[in-house]
Amino acid sequence: EAASKGGYDFFMLKEIYEQPEVITKTLKSRVDENYNIKFEDIGLTKELLENINKIYIVACGTAYNAGLIGKYILEKLTRIRVEVDIASEFRYRNPIIDDKTLVIVLSQSGETLDTFEALKESKKSGAKVLAITNVVGSSISREADSVVYTWAGPEIAVASTKAYTTQLVILYLIAIDYAQKVGKLSSENAKEFVKELFGLEEKVAKTLLYEKELEEISKHIIKQHSMFYLGRGLDYLTALEGSLKSKEISYIHSEAFPSGELKHGTIALIDDGVPVVINVTQDSLLDKSVSNIKEVKARGAYVIAIAKEGAENIEEVCDKVFYIPKVNDDLACFLSIIIHQLFAYHLAVAKGNDVDKPRNLAKSVTVE
Ligand code: G6P
Repeated sequence: EAASKGGYDFFMLKEIYEQPEVITKTLKSRVDENYNIKFEDIGLTKELLENINKIYIVACGTAYNAGLIGKYILEKLTRIRVEVDIASEFRYRNPIIDDKTLVIVLSQSGETLDTFEALKESKKSGAKVLAITNVVGSSISREADSVVYTWAGPEIAVASTKAYTTQLVILYLIAIDYAQKVGKLSSENAKEFVKELFGLEEKVAKTLLYEKELEEISKHIIKQHSMFYLGRGLDYLTALEGSLKSKEISYIHSEAFPSGELKHGTIALIDDGVPVVINVTQDSLLDKSVSNIKEVKARGAYVIAIAKEGAENIEEVCDKVFYIPKVNDDLACFLSIIIHQLFAYHLAVAKGNDVDKPRNLAKSVTVE
C-alpha cells in the first residue's frame, strides 16, 4: 500500500508532499516530548566526541548534497572540521583517517556500492563509522558501527526528495546534540533549535502551496537549454541540490554556482532569457545577493528568486519571487528545496518525461 501512488500522477510528487509528515516522524524518532535529543544507542558519548578532531561525511548524489549542508551546520555549531567527500573519490584517494576520525556515511538505500566500500575502508583505518540510512537492515546499516535511520518511508521515484530532507533532519540533530555535549550549545538553546525543527512541518506544508505557480512558470522555461542556480552560503548548497533535481528529470542542463563567484567566469554564459534561479534566504547576505541579481539581470537573465517572507528590495530586480515562510536562516534550506523540487518536477512533466524513471538513472547504484 505504501508503494502505491495515492492519487498522484507520479511517485515523486507524492513523495514531495509527504515531506511535512516524514520530517516530523524522523524528528520524533530521535526527540522526546521535552525536546531532548535521544542518541544514547549510537555511542557518540561526550568522551568520544571530545576525542574526535575530524569528521568526514561520505555519500553520492543527493545524499552528498545533504552532506554539504551537514558540514555547514556541524562546523557552525561544533567548530570541528568537517570534510564532505564523494564516496567514489574518497575510496581511492587515501584519505587521512585514524581513531580520532568520525566518518558519517549517508545513503538513502544503504546499498550504494561506493558508499559501502568507503565505509569498510574507514573502519579498517580505525575510524568510528556512523551510518544515516533510510532502509532498515541494508548492507550499510549492518556494517556501520552505529546507525541512525531516517523515517522517510519507501522512496520509489529515482530523484530523491523526502530522503534528502529527512537526512538533513538527522544531520541537524547530530550537530545540535554534538554541540551540546562538547559544551558549545546550552541545553536551552539546543531545545529552542529542536523546537524550530518541529515548526518545519507547517512551514514546508505552506511552501507546497506554490505548486500551481511553479507549474505555470515551468511551461515557459522548458525550451531553454541551460539554466543557472545561484546562492551564497547555505543558499549555494541548496542551489546544488536544486540544479541536480532539474538535471535528473527535466534533462535541462544547469549549473549551480556561488553567487559571488559568478563574475569570475560563468557570467559570460548569461544571455537573453537564460533562467537564473537564485536563493536569497540568508538575511546577513541579502544585500550582496541583490547585487548579484542585478548583475545577471543586466545581462538579460530571467530571474526567479526564492526569498523569505518580508525580504525587501527583491521584487524590483527579479522576474518572479517565491517567498518561503519566515524561518531561522539555518533552516531556510528545508523550505527553499521544496520550491526547487516542485519546479524540477513540473519542468519534467511539461516536457513529457517519465518523472519517476528518468533516462540512464537507477535508484540505487550497486556497481562501480
Ligand atoms: C543514485 C540515485 C540518486 C541517489 C544516489 C545515492 O544515483 O539516482 O538519487 O542520491 O544514487 O543513493 P543512496 O541510496 O546512497 O542515497
